[in-house]
Amino acid sequence: MALLTKFTFVMACWAVTFITVADCSIYPSEMSGDSARKLPSAFIPVSQASTLGSFYSLSLSSTFPEDLEMNEYCIELLRIYRQRYVTYANCLVTYARPVKICQNCYTGFNSLEDIYKNISSDQPGPGNVSCHDSLMRSDRLMLLYALFSKLDEIWTSAECKQCLTEDQEALSNDTVYFMATLNQSLSCFEQHQRNHTELCKDCKASYKRLKELYGRMDKNQTLCIDLEDAMNITQQLWSKNFSCLLPREETVPVIAVSSFMLFLPIIFYLSSFLHSEQKKRKLIHPKRAKSNNSLMNIQDKFS
Ligand SMILES: *[C@@H]1O[C@H](CO)[C@@H](O)[C@H](O)[C@H]1NC(C)=O
Ligand SMILES: *[C@@H]1O[C@H](CO)[C@@H](O)[C@H](O)[C@H]1NC(C)=O
Ligand SMILES: *[C@@H]1O[C@H](CO)[C@@H](O)[C@H](O)[C@H]1NC(C)=O
Ligand SMILES: *[C@@H]1O[C@H](CO)[C@@H](O)[C@H](O)[C@H]1NC(C)=O
Ligand SMILES: *[C@@H]1O[C@H](CO)[C@@H](O)[C@H](O)[C@H]1NC(C)=O
Ligand SMILES: *[C@@H]1O[C@H](CO)[C@@H](O)[C@H](O)[C@H]1NC(C)=O
Ligand SMILES: *[C@@H]1O[C@H](CO)[C@@H](O)[C@H](O)[C@H]1NC(C)=O
Ligand SMILES: *[C@@H]1O[C@H](CO)[C@@H](O)[C@H](O)[C@H]1NC(C)=O
Repeated sequence: MALLTKFTFVMACWAVTFITVADCSIYPSEMSGDSARKLPSAFIPVSQASTLGSFYSLSLSSTFPEDLEMNEYCIELLRIYRQRYVTYANCLVTYARPVKICQNCYTGFNSLEDIYKNISSDQPGPGNVSCHDSLMRSDRLMLLYALFSKLDEIWTSAECKQCLTEDQEALSNDTVYFMATLNQSLSCFEQHQRNHTELCKDCKASYKRLKELYGRMDKNQTLCIDLEDAMNITQQLWSKNFSCLLPREETVPVIAVSSFMLFLPIIFYLSSFLHSEQKKRKLIHPKRAKSNNSLMNIQDKFS
């Protein structure tokens, strides 16, 4: 410990002496004898040198001349954008699995979209400044644009708009109804979890209703990733975990068509047999006609 302090002291002394000597060696050449005599003590140049050094390093790393600095309004926009971006991204990750982003993050998306519109707008804001160029287009990375467009892309491919009202401020009635129907099925599953045979029997009606509603909403294009994922999970529970089978109405026409195909050869042979019978009768018929003709000829002759 004592050794360390001693060493530090020696080093400090050495440094002070070195700088002082260096200063002394510079001053005579740069200044007149008069100003050199005015220097009060050897310590002031040392402190001046150190403050100057820190000033230069600061100015190089962070401060630009004032005319290159961003407008205060744009800085404020950037601050709001940052807050809303973090809030929304946080929401997306929180509700990623099972997917519930549409129902939980639409407020976050709307406010992020709002502030993005302000930033990307060419319209000047208060103080007659537009932040579009200074925030968005000043470098090749265009980070603020790239960040937003990625999240916007996610929102679009999730098709969240289809689950929300037109102004995107609330869940649509269809979505709320689907969730209630889903809840009925899941509650039924929960009740009968112990006995899967009973579960398949008792929950069949509510599960069938859910599937039909889902099919109708698929046609209506009122589905989004939340509902698709919830249905996917429910479907897997039903068929894999509980091993239930829902007899499907689509199988009826399939069976009808395939049995028709099965009987096709028989029908073919039967029809060709009947056809040939008909031909036989037709072959007999012309003979009669001929005989009729000859009869008529005879009649003609006799008339
Ligand atoms: C964003 O723009 C809208 C109108 O274009 C304006 O009402 C709102 O105050 C702006 N927001 C901010 C933070 O400047
Ligand atoms: C805003 O700036 C534009 C061009 O810089 C100028 O033509 C316009 O008069 C300004 N408007 C106001 C209200 O200062
Ligand atoms: C949605 O439901 C609410 C209340 O149940 C009702 O007031 C509103 O009219 C419905 N909207 C549509 C588009 O059906
Ligand atoms: C269904 O809804 C009820 C009341 O709204 C709720 O208490 C229950 O937890 C829900 N069940 C499921 C499985 O989500
Ligand atoms: C499940 O329920 C069915 C019918 O109610 C019954 O026959 C069967 O023994 C039950 N199975 C179990 C494991 O409790
Ligand atoms: C589908 O759309 C039709 C008309 O647009 C509507 O009457 C019906 O209720 C919708 N069905 C569902 C399940 O949303
Ligand atoms: C349904 O789940 C399976 C497996 O979990 C997945 O591979 C598939 O992409 C899901 N489908 C949809 C429409 O999300
Ligand atoms: C359904 O089955 C999967 C895999 O077999 C299992 O990981 C999961 O926990 C099961 N879920 C329920 C609710 O039983």
